[in-house]
Amino acid sequence: MRTTRTGTCVPQGKQYHIQVGSGELAPYVLLPGDPGRVPVLGRSWQEYKEVASHREFRSATGRVGNAPIAACSTGVGGPSTEICVTELANVGCHTFLRVGTTGSIQESIRCGDIIISAGAMRRDGPSDAYAPKEYPAIASHDVIMALVEACEALGFTYHLAITCTVPSFYCGQGRLGFSGFSAKGQQEMVRELQNLRIANFEMESATIMILASIYGLRAGAACVVIADRVRDEWNPEGGAAEERLGKLAALAVEKLFAWDQIRLEKNKKVFFPSLLK
Ligand code: URA
Repeated sequence: MRTTRTGTCVPQGKQYHIQVGSGELAPYVLLPGDPGRVPVLGRSWQEYKEVASHREFRSATGRVGNAPIAACSTGVGGPSTEICVTELANVGCHTFLRVGTTGSIQESIRCGDIIISAGAMRRDGPSDAYAPKEYPAIASHDVIMALVEACEALGFTYHLAITCTVPSFYCGQGRLGFSGFSAKGQQEMVRELQNLRIANFEMESATIMILASIYGLRAGAACVVIADRVRDEWNPEGGAAEERLGKLAALAVEKLFAWDQIRLEKNKKVFFPSLLK
């Protein structure tokens, strides 16, 4: 085992938690929370190869169309997501797409809809170890565009909005804990977020966006609504929602890859739509 002065741990050339070595995963990487969703996402690819499975981190690499694509599960919440994104960056991944599930808090959003996050409120936790709260958690503009184009092409109902990332599923999202336990101020907290037009609660996006920005990489997030918190409805379509997320993410990566080729050919640092003319 070789330990660097900065504390990086790379036994046998593999990142300690994700158990992946440099270059083993394609650089465009999907980030579901659940390890079980990695092969589900892979059903939309033309090539799929499992790379590692250790703790909550299951990874696979492959190809969709001409685009290299990978997936690695983050586990639930900020702490394991921080580990995952940092170690993926260490092995050469540069574009991170969170694909997960979420609970909506706006009346106009229904179960089955997709929420594309323009940015995220930073109640995640780990991002505080990296940057002051004034530093915004924002998605990369080209990742947002690719997700919007993919939703349009697939005919999915979507909303482009700001997300609230939290470190708690129950009281931190305004739900009751065991035996009806309710934390002080939780209903007021949800009402305030609704008033601010926050679309949804989830538990990983802000961590991913902050790390990507700081590392000079790209990130975005698209989540399918499985909990409509206004009408109190829960996951009416089950696995079909995950299947649709897989199609959406694969198409978004194909688009991003194609745009990256055009941008590089034209020697531009930033993608913008008239480069396609
Ligand atoms: N994930 C969350 O964090 N909240 C939900 O309501 C659903 C999925």
